[in-house]
Amino acid sequence: MTDLMRACVVSEFGGSEVLQFDEVPRPYIANSDTLVRVKATGVNPIDVKTRSGKGVSRFIDRFPWIPGNEFAGVVEEAPYELAPFQPGDEVFGMLLTPHYQGSCAEFVSVPFMSLAKKPKSMSWAEAGATPLASLTAWAGVVDAARVHTGQRMLVHAGAGGVGHFAVQLAHFYGAHVIATASESNLDFLRELGADEVIDYRNQRFEDVITEPVDVVLDLIGNVADNTGSRSLKVLRDGGLIINVPTGSWPEMQEEVAATNPSIRASTLKLSPEGRILTTIAQLADQGDLRTHLDATFPLQQIAEAHDLVADGHVRGKIAIEVA
Ligand SMILES: NC(=O)c1ccc[n+]([C@@H]2O[C@H](COP(=O)([O-])OP(=O)(O)OC[C@H]3O[C@@H](n4cnc5c(N)ncnc54)[C@H](OP(=O)(O)O)[C@@H]3O)[C@@H](O)[C@H]2O)c1
Repeated sequence: MTDLMRACVVSEFGGSEVLQFDEVPRPYIANSDTLVRVKATGVNPIDVKTRSGKGVSRFIDRFPWIPGNEFAGVVEEAPYELAPFQPGDEVFGMLLTPHYQGSCAEFVSVPFMSLAKKPKSMSWAEAGATPLASLTAWAGVVDAARVHTGQRMLVHAGAGGVGHFAVQLAHFYGAHVIATASESNLDFLRELGADEVIDYRNQRFEDVITEPVDVVLDLIGNVADNTGSRSLKVLRDGGLIINVPTGSWPEMQEEVAATNPSIRASTLKLSPEGRILTTIAQLADQGDLRTHLDATFPLQQIAEAHDLVADGHVRGKIAIEVA
């Protein structure tokens, strides 16, 4: 077996044309790392932002950089004989971000605590495109908001990667879910379990929502139409707003303090935890959560996938087949 592998490599930040292909050394496996042969991965906004010199690019000080944060694949090498995942096991997982050796490659090396058994009900493409967005949705809906029956939750951008998992999770845990999207995605939101849907292009959500909500999961911030600031108008006293896109609403805390100090406000960072992915896999296998793929591309066409994500109107997720 050769020590080299095929990978998508980036040697300078820029447009999607910087996504090139090369033979590079396989990642090492050290300590609790598990070597996984990648079958599929997904493209997320963070990949596009970082590739273009934003996102977490400031932490990347050497090239080539291999993009990709999530994957599904087959264990090639375990760190020790009784490690939880052994050669041949089908897994999915997420890498710590940022990193140099991402999942747009034949192999990734990842701590086993960031792995879980691949959901049986999902294809490789679905499983590979699930971890990052579903873990983010979990961090917001379950860990931060502790959403439960009787609560009302507003999810902005409910049709996107994070949003479509957030709507499903909030619905599963009993909340009354209100979600925003453009007109063509409203039926999709209803299928995911949204109780009320709002076409953000033709309706002001603060005019439509007459009863205050307990939680807002803000996947937009103030980069479009002051979505973050306007959300404060629909929150009840003591409610919670979670702003997810880093840097999209830098004045959030000051604005909340000046508008209604009883409102709790938080940003969010996800961590790649296999134990949560195990629960997500269970929900998928029992039919309570699904991954919607807008499109699937072979690795050679990853530039097209990046352009689609950059456009900002993906429904669900974009998957990349690597193997
Ligand atoms: N902090 C973290 O750790 C973390 C983790 C994950 C993601 N993020 C960030 O969170 C954001 C969402 O991520 P994502 O993966 O869900 O993105 P995504 O999949 O690219 O989101 C696309 C969706 O956004 C919707 N949308 C666009 N503009 C909208 C608006 N003004 N109002 C309502 N919906 C709108 C689109 O719906 P239509 O097509 O119907 O317009 C589309 O379905 C990104 O900025 C991402 O970088 C942060």
